Parts: sequence; C-alpha cells; structure tokens
Amino acid sequence: MIRILCISGPNLGLLGTREPDIYGRETLADIHKRIKKRASELGVTVDTKQSDVEGEIVKWIGAAPKRYAGLLLNAAAYTHTSLAIFDALKATALPCVEVHLSNPEAREAYRHESKIAGACVGKVSGFRANSYVLALEGLVAHLQK
Ligand code: DQA
Repeated sequence: MIRILCISGPNLGLLGTREPDIYGRETLADIHKRIKKRASELGVTVDTKQSDVEGEIVKWIGAAPKRYAGLLLNAAAYTHTSLAIFDALKATALPCVEVHLSNPEAREAYRHESKIAGACVGKVSGFRANSYVLALEGLVAHLQK
C-alpha cells in the first residue's frame, strides 16, 4: 500500500476562521477528512500533520522516507522563505507536490516566489480545499507510473 504524508504549515490550523474570503470556511480537520476519503478510493493511505514550527516540518520531511513514498506539502508562509525546507526535500528526494489553497501568484508580490517549488514534482494552487485532493490525485498517478 502506498503511504503518503501530508504536511500543512503555519497558521493552517486556523482554517475555518482565517481570512475565509481567501482560504474558504473549511477547517483543516474537514480538509483532512476529504483527503482521507479520496485516498481510500484511490487505495492509498495518507497521514496528516500540521505545525507552525519550521524545524518540526524539516524533521518530519527528513524522517519521511522511512515510512512514506511521497509528500503533499502546504508550507504556507514558509513556502516563500524556507531554504531549510527546500534542502530537506532535496535531501529526502521523495516526490513532493506543493499545495496552496489560494493562488499565491495572483496575490501580493512577496508571495510570488516559492523557495520549495524547485524541489517538488508539481504544484496545485487556487482551488481552496480541493487543491489538496487534486494534489493527492496527481501524486498518486506520479507514484504509480
Ligand atoms: C498558502 C499561501 C501562502 O502565501 C500563505 O502564507 C499561507 C497559505 C495557501 O495555502 O494559499 O499561509 O500556502
């Protein structure tokens, strides 16, 4: 069975009430439920984690190859700043899909650059909670090819 780790970064624990016009009204728990439902339809397992702490995310990525075949990662604001997360992804060499609820490229200029994109196989952004489900579908197809 393919096992995937889904990591969400800072402030994503506040989804539901956080800027709903941008991120929608679904909580991270709602999103995790959706991901797990689609995962079971696809015949894969997804574990989900959230942290506001960059180093914790780096550690989870570093430990991931022991248990997981691929990663879904919404690094939130760390997307735009974190060389440490980029390096962790490069070090593990696990296929990773970058996920965003909003479309950062259509927002403020400081969100246009992703420091992690170059370590990912692809990116899904702009479809709110559905971005995670679409990213899962893409990752599973990538892992099965
Ligand atoms: C985000 C986009 C980032 O720019 C922002 O810092 C987030 C959420 C998204 O899912 O749209 O926290 O990653």
